[in-house]
Amino acid sequence: MFCVKHIIRTIPTRKFLLYQKRYKYYFVTTPIFYVNASPHIGHLYSALIADAMHRYHRLLGCEQTLFATGTDEHGTKIQEAASRAGCHIPDYCDQISRQYHELFHAFEVEYTDFVRTTQQRHKTAVHHFWETLRSRGHIYKGTYSGWYCVPEESFLTEDQLKEARGDDGKPRKVSAETGHPVEWMEETNYMFRLSALQGELLSWLKTEPVRPARFQQQLLAWVGGPSALRDVSVSRPSSRVHWGVPVPGDHGQTVYVWLDALVNYLTAAGYPGEPLPGHWPPSLHVIGKDILKFHGIYWPAFLISAGLEPPQAILCHSHWTVDGEKMSKSRGNVINPLGCAEVFTASGLRYFLLREGTPHSDANYSETKVMRVLNSELADTLGNLLSRSCARAVNPAQVFPGYDTSLLPSLCGSEGQQLLESLAHLPDAVAKHYEECAFYRGVDVIMGTLRLANRLFEVQRPWELAKCGGDNERLRCTLHLAMEALRVCGIALQPVAPSLAGRVLDKLGVPAERRCWADMQTCADQDAAIGKQQVILYQRVLSGR
Ligand code: ME8
Ligand code: MG
Repeated sequence: MFCVKHIIRTIPTRKFLLYQKRYKYYFVTTPIFYVNASPHIGHLYSALIADAMHRYHRLLGCEQTLFATGTDEHGTKIQEAASRAGCHIPDYCDQISRQYHELFHAFEVEYTDFVRTTQQRHKTAVHHFWETLRSRGHIYKGTYSGWYCVPEESFLTEDQLKEARGDDGKPRKVSAETGHPVEWMEETNYMFRLSALQGELLSWLKTEPVRPARFQQQLLAWVGGPSALRDVSVSRPSSRVHWGVPVPGDHGQTVYVWLDALVNYLTAAGYPGEPLPGHWPPSLHVIGKDILKFHGIYWPAFLISAGLEPPQAILCHSHWTVDGEKMSKSRGNVINPLGCAEVFTASGLRYFLLREGTPHSDANYSETKVMRVLNSELADTLGNLLSRSCARAVNPAQVFPGYDTSLLPSLCGSEGQQLLESLAHLPDAVAKHYEECAFYRGVDVIMGTLRLANRLFEVQRPWELAKCGGDNERLRCTLHLAMEALRVCGIALQPVAPSLAGRVLDKLGVPAERRCWADMQTCADQDAAIGKQQVILYQRVLSGR
């Protein structure tokens, strides 16, 4: 029996094979999240991108993958949050860190490691890293004075500040970017010689490690600027920040939270142990635009100084706003993902965030939009195609029919031909977008193909063909194409919507070991029984909360 694969094989697949070759190993990370408040959709979004990239690389056949996430538990911010909550600091950290575990579990974020900066293995890594920087002459003791912003855990320069009125109506200095207040501080700290690293940083940036381009440009402007790189303070007096990793050999100081936090990626790689193959450098750090400076300047600078390779790539994504406004506790518009999942399901919200989030610019969350996207794409386009092609009225034999594709054009008309072409191009087209973490674009391609399949159904009217009975070739051909579209799209959707895609593939009877990226190219050429289970893939949501 012939099948669609004959046509698909005529489409060149070399680029796709290249992707497969490049990734024997894959190591992806999320930021480690502060435990000063409960997780929201922004935090979840970063984790979803990393999870989708991890799943995608497993589908490509990577031999060994690491996916690290975790929680950032030291520093003033956390000390203050615990005290506001009236909690013992370690208990407070446990509680919020657990919320991240629960969140990730609910949204199918399958990390392979979860680093907490309070773990002993991490403190060991920080100590070793510090000693390495110090022994190589990159750290010195100095006095530092400047405007410190606790919410940002960072000293800010004059041009990063503006005047604003405080709660008491008096003018005060705040961070120009975030509006958070700053305080004048003068301290003896350990300093890191960032100023000496401009050349190295520029060489690294020339490899274009940062995506999308606008963030790469922003870093080049920062690093290349005339007065860009001032040495950074990398410790704090323990009298002020006691909740931290002590500086080796000087317990009067704790390690700056950002140095501490960034080292988490090394902790996940097993540092300071001998690096295993594929454990360093990371393939991809997924971060938000708020922490670009730390990952795009400090982190590569620290690594280069320690004699380690900087990351291969950084995906810096923009932010989620809510009904057009910045999400913040003070505005009271923080979106709790588990709450949304009660209305839209966790799979639905996961799909929405990856579908609508765009790395290059902010995306807006609104319940109306979530409802519209999920109803139209998951319920109508994908769910409907699955139910209609599995319905007994059109598919009495309950099979995924194999088909002789040489007959397809004449039997299934221009819609059939268009769908075949779209299926042939899909694996490479989607891979190209996934490679760039542009899941919204990949899903666009998938939805386009599914819409073509629905259109084929409408034109061929298989429910009428089925009424004629007998060995109806046109019906077999229509069902074959519709189900082939579901199979290919189901495989391609796995990184974005793992359990939804899994249910599509289960219903079609696609065996678990035939769901890899390469399997999209080869369809089964025999009739195969479909699953007996009734599937309503996504129940339409009729109104928000
Ligand atoms: O900065 N939209 O942790 P954090 C999209 N601990 N993503 C958002 C977002 C939004 N509105 N808000 C937050 C820290 N994020 C440090 C990181 S890493 C070594 C240390 C996401 O809890 C985004 O990834 O403030 C952002 O960079 C991260 O959460 C900040 O999380
Ligand atoms: Mg933050």
